[in-house]
Parts: sequence; structure tokens; C-alpha cells
Amino acid sequence: MDDGSVGDLFRRAAEHAVRFRDTISDRQQRPQVSYLGSLEAFREPVPEEGASGPEVIDALAAKAEPGLHAMTGSRFFGWVIGGSHPVGVAADWMTSAWGQNAGNHHAAPAAAASEAVAAGWLLDLLDLPRESSVGLATGATVANFVCLAAARGEVLRRVGWDAEAQGLFGAPPVTVLIGDDAHATVFSALQFLGFGHDRVTRLKTDEMGCISTSDFGEAAARVSGPSIVILQAGQINTGAFDDFAALMPIARRIGAWVHVDGAFGLWARASARKRLAEGVDEADSWATDGHKWLQTPYDCGYAIIHDADAHRRAMTIAASYLPPSHEGERDPSHFVPELSRRARGFATWAMIKHLGRKGIAAMIERHCRIARQMADRLRGEEGIAILNEVVLNQFMVRFGAGRADEEADRLTQRTVERLQADGVCFAGGANWRGRKVMRVSVISWLTDDSAGEMAADAIVAAWRAVSDTGDAATGCETVP
Ligand SMILES: Cc1ncc(COP(=O)(O)O)c(C=O)c1O
Repeated sequence: MDDGSVGDLFRRAAEHAVRFRDTISDRQQRPQVSYLGSLEAFREPVPEEGASGPEVIDALAAKAEPGLHAMTGSRFFGWVIGGSHPVGVAADWMTSAWGQNAGNHHAAPAAAASEAVAAGWLLDLLDLPRESSVGLATGATVANFVCLAAARGEVLRRVGWDAEAQGLFGAPPVTVLIGDDAHATVFSALQFLGFGHDRVTRLKTDEMGCISTSDFGEAAARVSGPSIVILQAGQINTGAFDDFAALMPIARRIGAWVHVDGAFGLWARASARKRLAEGVDEADSWATDGHKWLQTPYDCGYAIIHDADAHRRAMTIAASYLPPSHEGERDPSHFVPELSRRARGFATWAMIKHLGRKGIAAMIERHCRIARQMADRLRGEEGIAILNEVVLNQFMVRFGAGRADEEADRLTQRTVERLQADGVCFAGGANWRGRKVMRVSVISWLTDDSAGEMAADAIVAAWRAVSDTGDAATGCETVP
């Protein structure tokens, strides 16, 4: 490099990153500029001349920082977003610096080996069948896709159809049974796989978003031929789990492949809350994330499949220039729809090594306890209702409880806007059963009791401000 050493450049990037992390708690817990503001900061014609490395990194930090969300902070409760733990981030930096293309074990032995070991650790921590195979994907969306691709191939193979070779044209129909409150990305995965998100049989759910056993029983009785059942460990709004003990035997009776979306909830298996996901190990496949409860940086999900052959058949890429793998060797690209790919095993290995079984269990328990405490504090305030039983780390809040639905919708929306504008903590809005709610997800490694208390106070303060004035136009963008 003619513009300073690699070391200087990397240290400069590290300084920007450290400053960002060190000041995260003192910042407003929302971006300072909107998307359009960020676009304005970045927009310029294609540079004709290059800039030096340090200049580029300084410019990137200056342009990006106002538009960064405090997702790695202790008072961020939006969506379901892990906190990118510093140990995972450091491992991820090394992953980038090492620049390994982790597709196969000949090209990148350390990447493939760390992934193989991390995969075994995941099965142990989640207490899933140890012979299962694990693909390290970009996130739970792709993990769901991988698992359902294996399911599609296997249920059709059992009736004599080779979906991998012949595709779906002329294939026997496959019945897909899925709960009405499954995550949107599972419907996307079905769409990618040619099942269509509207062609599936949607099952009724209860007030926690869990599949009704009786509805499932009736739908299952109508199934003939190949079928896939999709269950859920951790509903996105309520954190609730389908009743695996009741549903699994019915699914088994019709010979269905059972897939479980457990993007965050499957991690209950690694904690004292394991009973919530009792019986989930009887399923055929599971999707979960590293970048949620394991706190790896983004770009990390896991597709876990009991039938390793079905997994391989659905994902294998073969080409003459790619060396074959032999008994006892494992190519990361055989388990995900990617050839050139990031060495995700390093960050996963590092986070499990850092937290350990006990640290993971303690963190999950802490988050669940804080969620419950926050919900209790809010419930004690007049006009605030908590809409779900807090079984895990997720809860929904409704403001203006007791008032007409439309009025409570407006007050809830305003309170979400007010909270986001105040910037003490961040929580987003959603619709639940046709009405507006605030969603709170406690999932950052950094969130402790005092952060939870401060956030609950901030939510109460936002609600009081809104209810006192009747309306408080904030001018802040609402995050859906
Ligand atoms: C239950 C559930 N399934 C799937 C997903 C999709 O995961 P990802 O965003 O990692 O692709 C999420 C994300 O929040 C989720 O909560």
C-alpha cells in the first residue's frame, strides 16, 4: 500500500469501531438521520480517482455513523436483534482479514474444521440428535429455505419422485401445513421453493400465536400423499412455542416431515427454559440463528437436519474443479446454497468458546427475567396492557387500554413514535390481531437489569406524555 501500512489502516478502523461501541450507551438509541439523510451523505458520482485507505475509512465512518442504529446497545428492543458481541465481532474481523473462501475443506482447512466443531457444539447445546448435519447460512431465512429444500426432496423421494433432478413440474402434490402466525420468512422460503405461499394450508392459532391442536388434527386427517408440517419455537411477537408434544404424534401419523422455525426460540433448549421446547428434538429439521441469541455478528444462521443425506442431496454442488470430500471430511458448501462463502464457523466457534454452556444459559435466563420485569412494571401503569403471557423474552404492549380500539391504536402509535423520538431506548411497532402494538424483544448480551428498568421508565414516560397531551406529534419516523 502506498498510503500507509496495513496495520495503520486496520488500527484506524478499529479506533472508529471502538469509539462507536464506547459511546453507544450515551447516544440516542435511534439513528440521527433517516434513510434519505444517509443517502444524501453517501451520494456522489463514481469517483474518477481513488482515495487513500485511511481517507476511505474516515469518510465511511463520518458518512455512516449518523445513520447507524444502536442495535449493539443495551437498550435496543426492536425486532429480534442480537447485540453483535465484541468477541464475535473480533473473530469476524479476523475472518475478514484472513479472507478465507470457506466453500471446501481443501481450500480452507481451518475454516471448515472450526465450522465442523462449532456444528457439533450447536447440536450439543441445543440438545438435538447428534447425527444431524448443520449448514451455516446467512440467517434463519436461508436456514428455513435449506431445511425446507431437504424436506421437499425427501418427501417426494419417498413417493418415487426425484425433485433435485426433475424439479416440481409433474411432481405429486405436496401438502404443506403451517400456522397462521408463522414468521413471514418461512412463507418466503416456501415461495422460493415453488410451493407458493398461498397454496399452503394455514392452521388456526391461539391468542399466543400457537397452532390449534384440534385444527391441526382436522387438517392432518385430510392429508394424503407427501406432506410437510411447519412448527414454531418462539413466535416473533409472543415468544410462544407450538405444543410439540401434542402436534408431533399427529404429524408422525401422516408421515410428514416436520420442520421447526426456531430463529431465536430454539435457544431456550440451551437454558433452564428447555421445557418450553420439550419434544422439539423429534422433528426432522430446525432453523435457528447465531446472530440472535448467540450474539454473533450478522450473517449467521444454522440449518439443522436430522437426515444428513437429505440435506446433502438438496444442497450439494459438484464440479470437476472442486476436490471431492472423503469420509470424515466436511465441505461447508455442501450444506448451504452457496459456494464462495464467508467462514461463519470462526465467529460461531468464538462465541460458544467465550460464553460457554453456562454463560449462554445465564444470558438467556437474564433476558427472560428482564422481559418479565419490564412487562410487570408497565402493567402497573394505568392505561397500559401487556397482551401476551411473557414466557420468553418477547412481549407486546398496548396503550390506551380500555378505550375504543381506534383510539387505543392511535395512542399506541403515538407512544411508539414518542419513545423513538425520546431516544432513551428503542422499541418498534407492529399489528397484532388487527390492532397496533409496541413490540419489546430483550435479546442483547449487553442488556442488564438497570437497562431494563431505564427502558421501562422511558416507555411509561412516553405513554404519560402522549396520554397527558392527548396526542404528541413528534415528527419522528415510525419504524414498522
Ligand atoms: C421466528 C423467526 N423466524 C425467522 C426469522 C428470520 O431470520 P433472519 O432475519 O435471521 O433471516 C426471524 C427473524 O426475526 C424470526 O424471528
